[in-house]
Amino acid sequence: MKKFLAVVMVAVCAMGLAACGSKGSSDKTLVMATNAEFPPYEFYEGDKVVGIDAEMAAAVAEELGMELKIEDMAFDSIIAAVQSGKADMGVAGMTVNEDRLKNVNFSTPYTEAAQVIIIKDGSTVATPDDLTGKKIGVQLGTTGDIYAGDIADATIERYNKGFEAVQALLQDKIDAVIIDREPAKVFVSQNEGLVIVDEEFTVEDYAIAIAKDNEELLTKINEALAKLEASGKLQEIKDKYITAE
Ligand code: ARG
Repeated sequence: MKKFLAVVMVAVCAMGLAACGSKGSSDKTLVMATNAEFPPYEFYEGDKVVGIDAEMAAAVAEELGMELKIEDMAFDSIIAAVQSGKADMGVAGMTVNEDRLKNVNFSTPYTEAAQVIIIKDGSTVATPDDLTGKKIGVQLGTTGDIYAGDIADATIERYNKGFEAVQALLQDKIDAVIIDREPAKVFVSQNEGLVIVDEEFTVEDYAIAIAKDNEELLTKINEALAKLEASGKLQEIKDKYITAE
């Protein structure tokens, strides 16, 4: 009987009538692509991915009556995973920008964010303008990477993980790191001798990335986000991971 069902499923999949297991998503599972190197949004606690995005995604999945499955990958693979259907959504502190909008849809933004500059204590860099001609570390494929390209005469060093850029700064291999504000606060709090430049480098919005051809999921996710916002649940999740100054 099992075998018969499997054969039928293969046939149904081949006809394109049902979401197929091999594509990651089934009717009951909501697959989230992320890059779990990004506290407080997504990071490992033991072997579990936790953080604001992980909890928000779990709450969205619950609203949708689905079960969340998290796939950890390189940040610059997330959009492709969503486009190919390997994942249903990208939730990775991902900034909405024009280029990405050509490839995926974005949900309603769920957080205001910023790129900030981390420097060593005593650095001469005091504002974003002082980055001219400097060696700057970023995480590959992030908005920090993209916008650092606008700085005159700067050398950009790209790392797979944001924390690797911070380590390079600690070792004086680079002059500054451009990275998202909340992860920057976490990295600075965990390492002596680092400070964040007061003036932000950019201001941006985080949203959930969804395949262009999945308008239905976009609508459902936006409805779920609106509910979580209205009930205060979203704020509760944020407050759990970010303590107000
Ligand atoms: N907000 C930045 C961007 O969208 C960085 C996000 C990095 N996220 C991560 N999970 N590593 O490009």
